[in-house]
Amino acid sequence: FDTGSLAGKRVVITAGPTREALDPVRYISNHSSGKMGYALAEAAREAGATTVLISGPTHLPSPERVTLLPVVSAEEMYAASLQALPDCDVFIATAAVADYRPDQAAAQKIKKGERDTLVIELVKNPDIVAAMAAHTPKPFTVGFAAETERVIDYARDKLERKQLDLVVANDVSRSDIGFNSDENAVTLVWPQREENLSRRSKHQLARDLVERIARQLA
Ligand code: C5P
Repeated sequence: FDTGSLAGKRVVITAGPTREALDPVRYISNHSSGKMGYALAEAAREAGATTVLISGPTHLPSPERVTLLPVVSAEEMYAASLQALPDCDVFIATAAVADYRPDQAAAQKIKKGERDTLVIELVKNPDIVAAMAAHTPKPFTVGFAAETERVIDYARDKLERKQLDLVVANDVSRSDIGFNSDENAVTLVWPQREENLSRRSKHQLARDLVERIARQLA
């Protein structure tokens, strides 16, 4: 692992889940732990990069010598990403962003009524990584794809649709790795090829990913 391979570079990483408020006390979210993004932030900093970590709510300690920007909702994560974008060389999106949010969070706690059903209308959140990849000058943009079937097909579709430079694909139907686990096994989907990284700790995987990204920038 080359500790100088990202010297002088600026790396921005999104991590963790987002929370979409329903009312002042309730939200929609997911089980993302943030571990992969935090491990990547540490690896990028070890490689010499100026590192910004935009994180949804997690239980992880903030990595040392990394600028941590805490956010809650997808819209906040989007705004923080846009702000961090100038001079960004590498943008890595590990966050499990909620695809939809309640149209408008209720100002007061939603009360239980007589009716047995409650309908809440959801609206689409901005696609953060696609927006970053569409920016000029374009940072080297990396997305993650968690799939339960046709993993490579869907990852390659994401690469093309969102104009990414690399997609890190993993099979979340396997319970031994991925979400919330300390280990992961992934396939790197590059524009012209695929590369398997067998099961290893997220810490090691982060270093291996950073190494490959640095090689692409060089
Ligand atoms: O489209 P899908 O959510 O499967 O794509 C996953 C990738 O896109 C991840 O890298 C995730 O961080 C990113 N993403 C994003 N903003 C969204 C949805 C996904 O940056 N609103």
